[in-house]
Amino acid sequence: MCGICAYKTKENAVKFAVESLKILEYRGYDSCGISFLKNGEIETVKSLIDIDDLKKKTENKTSNLVIGHTRWATHGGVTLKNAHPHLSSSNKIALVHNGIIENYKTLKENLNCAFQSETDSEVLVNLIESEKGSLIEKVISASKKVEGTFAIAVIENGELVVGKRESPLYVAYFDGGVVATSDISAFVGNVKEFYILNDNEFASLNENKIEFFNENGEKIKKNAEILPKITQNFKIFDKTHMESEIKETKIVLKNTLKEYLNSSVFSDLNLPKNIKEINLIACGTAFHSALMGAEFFKEQGINSHTYVASEFRYGREILNKNALYIFVSQSGETADTIACAKLLKEKKMHLLALTNTPNCVLNRICENVLPTFAGKEFAVASTKAYCCQVFVLFIFSLFLSQKLQDNIDELIKFTNEFQIQDFDKDLLNKISSFQKIFFVGREKDYITALEASLKLKEISYINSIAIPAGELKHGTLALVDENTLVIAISTEKNVREKLLSNLEEIRARGGEVVLVSNFSCKDYIKIPLQAMHENFMPIVSIIPLQFFALRMCEKLGYNPDKPKNLAKSVTVE
Ligand code: AGP
Repeated sequence: MCGICAYKTKENAVKFAVESLKILEYRGYDSCGISFLKNGEIETVKSLIDIDDLKKKTENKTSNLVIGHTRWATHGGVTLKNAHPHLSSSNKIALVHNGIIENYKTLKENLNCAFQSETDSEVLVNLIESEKGSLIEKVISASKKVEGTFAIAVIENGELVVGKRESPLYVAYFDGGVVATSDISAFVGNVKEFYILNDNEFASLNENKIEFFNENGEKIKKNAEILPKITQNFKIFDKTHMESEIKETKIVLKNTLKEYLNSSVFSDLNLPKNIKEINLIACGTAFHSALMGAEFFKEQGINSHTYVASEFRYGREILNKNALYIFVSQSGETADTIACAKLLKEKKMHLLALTNTPNCVLNRICENVLPTFAGKEFAVASTKAYCCQVFVLFIFSLFLSQKLQDNIDELIKFTNEFQIQDFDKDLLNKISSFQKIFFVGREKDYITALEASLKLKEISYINSIAIPAGELKHGTLALVDENTLVIAISTEKNVREKLLSNLEEIRARGGEVVLVSNFSCKDYIKIPLQAMHENFMPIVSIIPLQFFALRMCEKLGYNPDKPKNLAKSVTVE
């Protein structure tokens, strides 16, 4: 993963770079650092704490040429030596890198120099140094020897060169000079237009001139894109991003519905005629909303399958030219999901991106885009975006079956009446000491169980599993004892009685049961849910469970916005 930035400016660029890194922190926060040119020498400052610490350490530093990095560790632990930027063994070249150099061990063996870190990136900077010619020539010839992915910014003797393969990179002019970053939202300064680097393209950046090159070192022309203005006027400010974002769910569902009813989102689509099959591909939480979407499509008689992107990519799936392939992703930047989209594009399948980030990579690959209007998500744990994905997939299923018009009143009623429900404090105190937690449900409630379990693991580090309630007796029931807490979700009417029998089997083994349900039931500790139409219950029921994860995390003293080992955008395979 990781985020990179580079500035060449008339005035001091250090503050710009640090500001960009703060925005890019969602891409990884294991460490951060900058390298800059000072009196002809490269100076480097790193931090293992956070960008604010880096800011303090660089307050008095000035330079017109700076590269910066925020890291999600892949090769080598979280140490200052492994933190970027990395310098070549002569200290003349500095590099920041997002991606993975797969053949770094072979390259390392062939380089005759001493290495300071365990990273693949340090191999790359030394490989560049070992090549001949100008900096741009060295970078391009080194890239030919590299297997894997990269977005890089490299400085040497006052020169700045950037390039990319697979990992994103954007460059732009602004009133103070030139900039390159992993994400257009991290441009600092007055940027109006920007350039998208394609795979195996490179650029040499001077204060007032950017030159683009292809992999053969030939100059190429590129067209600028207008920088979209992203305004968010509904931000709720709470003590953590995660809490604010869960609470924003009601507003963003309303906004999303408004956009879908008033704008031309559906009429802009170019879909295959009479869709009989929809396949959804995604990762993590987006995979769970894809599972939910598949249920909605099946309800409308459309055959539907869901795939984890990292598995689909190397799998043996038989493709269907008449099917629609939907890629669900909050960021639109997830490497595994993007790789599947590229693969299916090559095979000329019908593609649709369901994303929350305008202008993201996935939107550019797919011929069709359905936006979720959840606004930017900062917390690593996805919450409001998940609810919007589920909501949009439901709306889309109605659209495909030509039932949208008939259901508009029901949709509006839901967004008006739906209430955000926190997790009961007293109940939390009662159950927070359980170390073994199962989430169970049947049908769509099982998908909610999967998502609730992921949220809990992700931010509170408590091991939990989600299992279809009827499947417990086929093995997992062996784990149930008086130390087990089972959170059961029950909103599906047709399997309600079946689920209650499954809960009896748990209670008979000493397990503590908490029932999250809109049905009345006196037999268990209950979290009563607001009663809504069955198809909205996946949204209603996940909210208190998102809060459950959040409150457990807070009780344990962790930061929910930055869970260990994770990053918001997973841009490596
Ligand atoms: C969600 O809480 C997780 N942080 C993670 O599973 C995430 O949903 C996954 O990495 C996919 O991200 P995307 O939606 O940006 O593609």
